[in-house]
Amino acid sequence: MGRYDELMSLSLRRGFLLPSAEIYGGLAGFYDYGPYGARLRRNWEDLWLAFFLQLGDNYHLVDTPTIQPHVALEASGHVDLFADVLVPCTQCKETHKADELIQAATGTSGEGMDVEQVRQAIREEGIVCPNCGGRLGEPTAFHLMFPVAIGPKGDEQAFLRPETAQGAYLGFKRAFEILRKRLPLGLAIVGRAYRNEISPRQGAYRLREFHQAELQIFFDPEGFDALLSLEELENTTLRLMWATHRDEVAMPTLGTLLEQGDLPPFYLYHMAKVQAFYLDTLQVPPEAFRFYELSEEERAFYNRIHFDVQVALESWGGFQEVGGVHYRTDYDLSRHQDRSGVKMTVFHDGRRFVPHVLELSFGVDRNVWAMLDLGYETGEKAVLHLPPRLAPVTLGVFPLVKKDGLPDMAEGLYREARTWIEASYDASGSIGRRYARMDEIGTPYCITVDYDSLEQDDVTLRDRDTTKQARVAVKNLRGTLQGLLEGTTDFDAL
Ligand code: GAP
Repeated sequence: MGRYDELMSLSLRRGFLLPSAEIYGGLAGFYDYGPYGARLRRNWEDLWLAFFLQLGDNYHLVDTPTIQPHVALEASGHVDLFADVLVPCTQCKETHKADELIQAATGTSGEGMDVEQVRQAIREEGIVCPNCGGRLGEPTAFHLMFPVAIGPKGDEQAFLRPETAQGAYLGFKRAFEILRKRLPLGLAIVGRAYRNEISPRQGAYRLREFHQAELQIFFDPEGFDALLSLEELENTTLRLMWATHRDEVAMPTLGTLLEQGDLPPFYLYHMAKVQAFYLDTLQVPPEAFRFYELSEEERAFYNRIHFDVQVALESWGGFQEVGGVHYRTDYDLSRHQDRSGVKMTVFHDGRRFVPHVLELSFGVDRNVWAMLDLGYETGEKAVLHLPPRLAPVTLGVFPLVKKDGLPDMAEGLYREARTWIEASYDASGSIGRRYARMDEIGTPYCITVDYDSLEQDDVTLRDRDTTKQARVAVKNLRGTLQGLLEGTTDFDAL
């Protein structure tokens, strides 16, 4: 079984990712999250929020509608520019996404090309249909937003939002005033985004409805660098692939990059923070992580500097994008100012200007899938090695046998644990089978109540990754688990 099938089989069996509307044959590009998947995705979002909101004193979670007015998305440039180029085959009638077609045929990215550039690339490179070798037809632009008609007559035009970001820009003015006119100001939105993708791919990579977690940092371009503790990060090595050197990952220190001066200090600072989130919090192996610079032609229309965050997965056949660090300048606020007539300027540090935006943008579903792929060990034993705080269930609670008062004590511990963590009680089957069930959904810790527990008021605590066991007094259980989850307690020291 290939890696993708292994992960889909795990997903279906254990309820992570499930086909949506399956009883009617499913709907391409849409997935349900089952009981463990929904919890895993929520835990990922909570970890993301906890990490990124503490990057600034004035960073906040907000929420805005998923339906946005036509005029706003016209002003942002999405109505005109948020499109993919499609190329039909004149022979087999298959429709191809131009960037994928060009990438596959030439090995170089076709991202960001408009209709004319695609036409030219097909002509110059002699590209034919990859399915049947037939002649390719006229490229056309295909719009990616889902239109929505509001009201009984449907005469108010809107779209399902293609990114969470716009909500933060539309609400910037009020947020700035409510939050006492301070910069930098961070507005984070975690929620759904929609794109009418041409070829939705399975495995949470290209969905038509997905979650994004995006932090928009509004700042003064003249004063931001001075506010950041860059010295602390000078020795941090960043793993990056330059647009001009696509053959190797460079690993310069942040100090070297600061000296070279090609990227602004505030940008480098946030790259280091994003990398720390992946390597330390999500425990992604360093060699499976990199930043990937997009060239001027490839980057999104709103970005001046654009590095994708990429993670290498077996099920994706290598590195793919899971997020991005986007320097959007004052592009969005200025466009909304021009179109709405509402001033987006702020008076700050004695100057009046339109704030600039650095966007830290992540696709939650791709990241959750990455956690499954990186963590799932198959073979004799199936174990999902998730970082403990991500696991859908934190604690499995078992009585050794179903008699002699052991279930009573175990149930009591389970009820107490449920008041502060996700716990699961299981009294059926052998202890080995119960551990195996918990291992496969990534439960980092299990406790077993045995006959000694009744006399000593303690339990056996088992660690998922090492299968080591330790005896822990019931009165210390909560403190021990908290320490393990926060990383302040070492299992071996128990
Ligand atoms: N606000 C900026 C923005 O939306 P993007 O690169 O278009 O930038 C950000 O999207 C992230 O959202 C991507 O890095 C990816 O992880 C995720 N994403 C984008 N399209 C997606 C899709 N069709 N299915 C799943 N995730 C998607």
